[in-house]
Amino acid sequence: MRLGVLVSGSGTNLQALIDARDRGELSPAELAVVIANRPRAKAVERARDAGISAEVVDHTRFGGDRRSFEEALASCLDSFGVEAVILAGFMRVLSPTFVDRYPRRMLNTHPSLLPAFPGVRAPEQAVAHGVKVSGCTIHFVDAGVDTGPIIFQAAVPVLDADDAASLHRRILAEEHALLPKAARLMAAGALICEDRRVRVVEAA
Ligand code: GAR
Repeated sequence: MRLGVLVSGSGTNLQALIDARDRGELSPAELAVVIANRPRAKAVERARDAGISAEVVDHTRFGGDRRSFEEALASCLDSFGVEAVILAGFMRVLSPTFVDRYPRRMLNTHPSLLPAFPGVRAPEQAVAHGVKVSGCTIHFVDAGVDTGPIIFQAAVPVLDADDAASLHRRILAEEHALLPKAARLMAAGALICEDRRVRVVEAA
């Protein structure tokens, strides 16, 4: 299954996908293209270094017209024959129309134990709230913001000395393990979604 990976920033989750591919642990998922909405995203460099096509669809060039931005994204994904999409630190909210193009074929990774702390700066929200445990969530994308059916979660402790950055580093390590695994299972048709509940039907 040909994947398009959408990114906005550093791309450590993209790197985890690349590393999994290089270890032979991503198949039958293939990394067909990486698309960044920010021209200077380090993720673009990571993709090119790994021999993956990397494109920039800069949202600021569409003057706030989300529909045109998404049409450009969709046509770029189509031009690479993309069948499923991974949001790997992609910091734009996508419309239901765009999401509907990839039913149960779009994954997101989020740095909190959803439904706690959706949206932006989740580790900062967790530290400010004073929770003792946080973590990451890999989920299917639906029309809401960080509301789709949950595939995997991993918990990490929030330590007294943590700030948002140190907590985020601990969470990222868990994301890096779970996102490639979820991508592989989705591509293998091994994720069965019944209402909100996702089951894995193949040995992971
Ligand atoms: C990750 O922690 C990801 O979960 C988060 O951005 C980070 C990207 O890191 N995504 C969101 O907060 C989406 N709401 P990366 O660019 O190093 O992969």
